[in-house]
Amino acid sequence: MRVNNENYLSIWVDDNEQLKIINQLSLPHKFEVTILHNFEEVVASIKNMLVRGAGLIGVTAGYGMWMLTKEAPKNSIESFESYIENHADRLRLARPTASNLAWAVNRQINKIKSGSTIEEKINLARNEAITIAEEDRNACYQIGQYGLEILRNLSIAKPGKVINILTHCNAGWLAFVDYGTALSPIFLAHDEGIPVHVWVDETRPRNQGASLTAWELATHGVPHSLIVDNAGGHLMQHGMVDVVFTGADRVTLNGDVANKIGTYLKALAANDNNVPFYVAFPSSTIDFTLNNFKQIPIEERSGDEVRNIMGKLNNGDLAEVQICPDLTPARNWAFDVTPSHLITGLICEKGVCPPSKFGLQNIFPEQFNE
Ligand code: MRU
Repeated sequence: MRVNNENYLSIWVDDNEQLKIINQLSLPHKFEVTILHNFEEVVASIKNMLVRGAGLIGVTAGYGMWMLTKEAPKNSIESFESYIENHADRLRLARPTASNLAWAVNRQINKIKSGSTIEEKINLARNEAITIAEEDRNACYQIGQYGLEILRNLSIAKPGKVINILTHCNAGWLAFVDYGTALSPIFLAHDEGIPVHVWVDETRPRNQGASLTAWELATHGVPHSLIVDNAGGHLMQHGMVDVVFTGADRVTLNGDVANKIGTYLKALAANDNNVPFYVAFPSSTIDFTLNNFKQIPIEERSGDEVRNIMGKLNNGDLAEVQICPDLTPARNWAFDVTPSHLITGLICEKGVCPPSKFGLQNIFPEQFNE
């Protein structure tokens, strides 16, 4: 995606083999590239949300595993591999809900095991990290194409009228390597001349909608309006939403979807108002081992994220302010689950399918071979 007339990915390795990310904590007020020098910094970048979003968390973990191979002791293959196994859990546990994290770590461990010398293992980990990133980028492009078809059809049904899309949190290119999932079709539709307008949920407590989705849309010139998280139902009741597109952090075999807290309420409102509700994600977000959404680990983050809010002061300085009484405690669940019966369709890199085991099996048959 283009920022200040330059093409960017959300994570990349530069010509000096340095791992670089766009620091999402600085957006939307400052565009800042940060170098991750070692495994510890990779873990911290995921935990503290310099990088975030299921796809990007997985890709960053892939690179983190490569760093780990470079830092592991080289005296014997046994000590090299046990160092990696022991440290891999630190990455896996950095954020518990997004499937992509453990998926990328496990994929790297298998790849590293397949090398016969330490040097080969390090090279394999480097190449696999790059492959994971490329796959993520390609998947998001394909998701964009499938979602675009949905927007084209909505536009045909409403000739000359603006298509209003509601989205929650940030499932744009910052949450992946490029393009994004929920936002990918919107960028493509806009580029193709389909008149679109996006209702952006601010997404309390960390405001990924206000700070990241709005920034991506503004940077790309896509018409959008920021709304409070509670406005969606009202807009749907008044015919002001044609479709909802969200991302996902973990999808079960039955097509239930864990996503940013508040997604479930949007799905309920969409269902009550016959507004189609689509969830877009790459296959790395599907947990092919889970039937029951109650087994999805839901991250609970610090209550301080609810008690305080960060913003720009009139003088341009950034500041955090407290919005509740000093003694009021807060709870902060980061995700909720939208059950499949509230979802119209799942948009993946292999196509759009019904939110069910049968639907997923149809587009990912290889995952269901006994
Ligand atoms: O806590 P985050 O910002 O990492 O969570 C990401 C989400 O839950 C988003 O809803 C996103 O849509 C999922 S797609 C990467």
